Amino acid sequence: MSWWAIDVRTTPADRDTLGAWLVTETGLAVEERADGTLVTFAADEAAADALVAALAVHCGGRAAAERRPLEAVDWSVRWRDGLGARTIGRLTVLPSWLPEVTPDGARTVVLDPETAFGSGEHGSTRAALALLERHLAPGDFVLDLGSGSGILAIAAVKLGARSAVGIETDAGANEVAVRNAERNRVSQRISFLTGDAADLAPLAGPADLLLSNILRSVNTPLLPAIVAALRPGGLAIFAGMEEVEARLFRPVIADAGFTTVEELTEAGWWAVAARSE
Ligand SMILES: C[S@@+](CC[C@H](N)C(=O)[O-])C[C@H]1O[C@@H](n2cnc3c(N)ncnc32)[C@H](O)[C@@H]1O
Repeated sequence: MSWWAIDVRTTPADRDTLGAWLVTETGLAVEERADGTLVTFAADEAAADALVAALAVHCGGRAAAERRPLEAVDWSVRWRDGLGARTIGRLTVLPSWLPEVTPDGARTVVLDPETAFGSGEHGSTRAALALLERHLAPGDFVLDLGSGSGILAIAAVKLGARSAVGIETDAGANEVAVRNAERNRVSQRISFLTGDAADLAPLAGPADLLLSNILRSVNTPLLPAIVAALRPGGLAIFAGMEEVEARLFRPVIADAGFTTVEELTEAGWWAVAARSE
């Protein structure tokens, strides 16, 4: 797969609505450059062409779009550049190749995400970690949907969860997560299952707390499975959505019977903790 970028220019007045439309169309983040250009992505040239055509229909002459192929980068090597320790409340996330610098009393997650998502650098992961750190109760049983590198499940156990189960469609990511659990000496308290959370989450529950840091386009159809996987009154932490998506997701979780407990935004990524009925 060779990714393409699409640069979209529009008036300042139309920028927010167009950004929200692009997020909804692609299910991907939109970057806003300093000059106001919106940048989004497509998985191949045909998808880039389709998006440019849909944009022309949606906006008429109010926006101009250009597409360009992206340079192929070996992310398995490049992503290590610039990663450092991150502190979120009582939690420190430390890349495994750095010397340990944990302050006294802090809970450290030592991590090598390798090729899996979840280094602790992304705003959506940090937003989920911040809500987890504030709302986890000691002894909770935790489900982590879309567990990637295992960062959230491991953090939950380090913060006092009784045990955790990660569910991930990507078997390769689960191999990375297992290595990270071993690195943090929490393997006895965490399992990683490979498969679709829609099928596995209700079987793995009932959970006291459930994390779902996945795109809104995935979180929304997962809601019935999430409700089925939580105990009555259990807490769900949803992340993986940009700030502009909050207004679209709030009514969806309210309709599914959730009451919002706390919302926060980290580097433009919105997350919400909400209690089920
Ligand atoms: C944004 S990453 C989150 C990784 C990590 N939990 C974190 O917070 O950094 C989302 C993950 O969800 C996985 N995923 C997407 N759809 C899924 C589904 N239906 N069931 C389970 N995992 C899924 C992806 O493979 C990806 O690893």
